[in-house]
Amino acid sequence: MFQKLVLDCVKTIQAGGLKNFVRVLGSTARDRAFDRKYGVYTSCMEKPRFSEKDLNAQESVTLHAATRAAPFLKMWKAFGLIPRGRFVDFGSGRGRALMLANSLGFEELRGLELDENLIGICHKNLSKFKLEKKYDILKMDFNKYIPEASDQVFYFYDPCEYGFLKKTAENIIEKCPKDGVERHVIYHNNLYEQTPFDSLEGYERLNKIHIEGNQFFLYRITDGLE
Ligand SMILES: C[S@@+](CC[C@H](N)C(=O)[O-])C[C@H]1O[C@@H](n2cnc3c(N)ncnc32)[C@H](O)[C@@H]1O
Repeated sequence: MFQKLVLDCVKTIQAGGLKNFVRVLGSTARDRAFDRKYGVYTSCMEKPRFSEKDLNAQESVTLHAATRAAPFLKMWKAFGLIPRGRFVDFGSGRGRALMLANSLGFEELRGLELDENLIGICHKNLSKFKLEKKYDILKMDFNKYIPEASDQVFYFYDPCEYGFLKKTAENIIEKCPKDGVERHVIYHNNLYEQTPFDSLEGYERLNKIHIEGNQFFLYRITDGLE
C-alpha cells in the first residue's frame, strides 16, 4: 500500500509537475473540512479488498481516494451539464462523489462497489450526511453493470487500470439502452492525457478541465442517439 502510494505520487509529479502535485495535496487537505462539516469519514487512502471470486478486478484496482469536493462542484459548473435522471458512480468507495452529486439535483443516485467494508462505511456516511435523494449501492463488479434507462451520468474517479477500464467502457456502449436519451461519462484522472474512452467508437470527448490540479474529462455517449 505504501509502495503504491509513493508510486502514485511520483506518477502525478511526472504527469503534471511538482506545482500541480502540491495543488492536489492542497485540495485533499481542504477536504478534511468537508468530513468535519458533515460528520462523515471519506478522506482516506486505502487498498480496496475484493473477494476471491473477483481476482480479476482486484488485480487492476487502484488505491481508494475520495473525489475532492470543491474541484468536483466547480467542474460540474464549468461543464454546464443539467442534472437529469440517475448519477451512477463506478466504484463508489466511501460515498464522497454520491454526496456531492446529491447537492447537484439528480433525481436518483447509484453506487457500484466491490469492497464490502467500503460499502458498509458508505451506508453509514450517507445516513450521517442525510442524503435527500433516492439511492442504492450495488455490490458488484462495475465491469458487468447493465445500464438502465434512467442512468444519465456515469462517473469514474480513477478506479482501475487502463485495460480493465476499457473493458468497462466497451460494456457500457454494448449494453446501454439505445433510446435516444443523452448520456454522459465523466472520467477523473490526474495522470493521463488520453483515456480508454478516447479510443472507442460511441464516445465523443466534449471537454477536459483542470481544477486545483484535478483533471476531469467529459464524454457524450453518441451510440444510440439519432
Ligand atoms: C478512487 S476510489 C473513488 C471513490 C469514489 N468514487 C469517490 O470519488 O469518492 C475507486 C473505488 O472504485 C472501487 N472499484 C475498483 N474497481 C472496481 C470494480 N471492478 N467494481 C466495483 N468497484 C470497483 C474501489 O473499491 C474504490 O472504492
